[in-house]
Amino acid sequence: MVKACLFCFFLILYFSSTFAQEKWSAKGYPNPLSEYFLCNAVFNQSPNRVCDPDRIFEDQERSQLNDLLNGLEGKTGQTNTSNCSQKGITGVIVLASRINGGTSRDASNMAIQLLNKWTFDRCDRGILILLAKDDKKFWTARGQDVPVTGAVFTEIFNSQASLFKQGQFYQGLVNMLNEIGNRVNS
Ligand SMILES: *[C@@H]1O[C@H](CO)[C@@H](O)[C@H](O)[C@H]1NC(C)=O
Ligand SMILES: *[C@@H]1O[C@H](CO)[C@@H](O)[C@H](O)[C@H]1NC(C)=O
Repeated sequence: MVKACLFCFFLILYFSSTFAQEKWSAKGYPNPLSEYFLCNAVFNQSPNRVCDPDRIFEDQERSQLNDLLNGLEGKTGQTNTSNCSQKGITGVIVLASRINGGTSRDASNMAIQLLNKWTFDRCDRGILILLAKDDKKFWTARGQDVPVTGAVFTEIFNSQASLFKQGQFYQGLVNMLNEIGNRVNS
């Protein structure tokens, strides 16, 4: 009897650790640029700028977003310049089902922490877009020298808010990235 209960206990422990959905925080979230193997990165695509450990998007969608992010840098400036005032925007997308805490403030904190931790743009022209799907939270953290203001990011997001509300996250992100490129060039 005792043995059987012990077994039950381990079984419950096993199942809860396997199926409890991970709530991500900045501390444990993998870096797509270096830990792409934890991000469900599309094979052989480098540099990788999309991390999707919970498989929110299809391979094809991740691949397209990655291409768009790579293109954004060239669209908003130069990609390989030592002159930071000519440098384009480096973007990274962080996807999660749930994040620790689950509030807007948690989303904003996590995005800012990851942007600061990963320092993927030496010119401080990086943006990090975080989407926590089941928490329904979204945040864009931006480096100090990104040539798009926070207010414009909010406006761009608001213009796609209905898509996000309908759960059409992929199309919403595609439109946002295109719009960011257009704003810098206009
Ligand atoms: C980038 O610029 C550096 C020098 O600033 C150069 O050595 C390197 O070959 C360039 N890379 C590409 C891909 O153009
Ligand atoms: C860097 O780029 C800016 C804007 O194009 C330009 O005004 C400046 O002279 C450049 N600086 C250098 C050192 O080339």
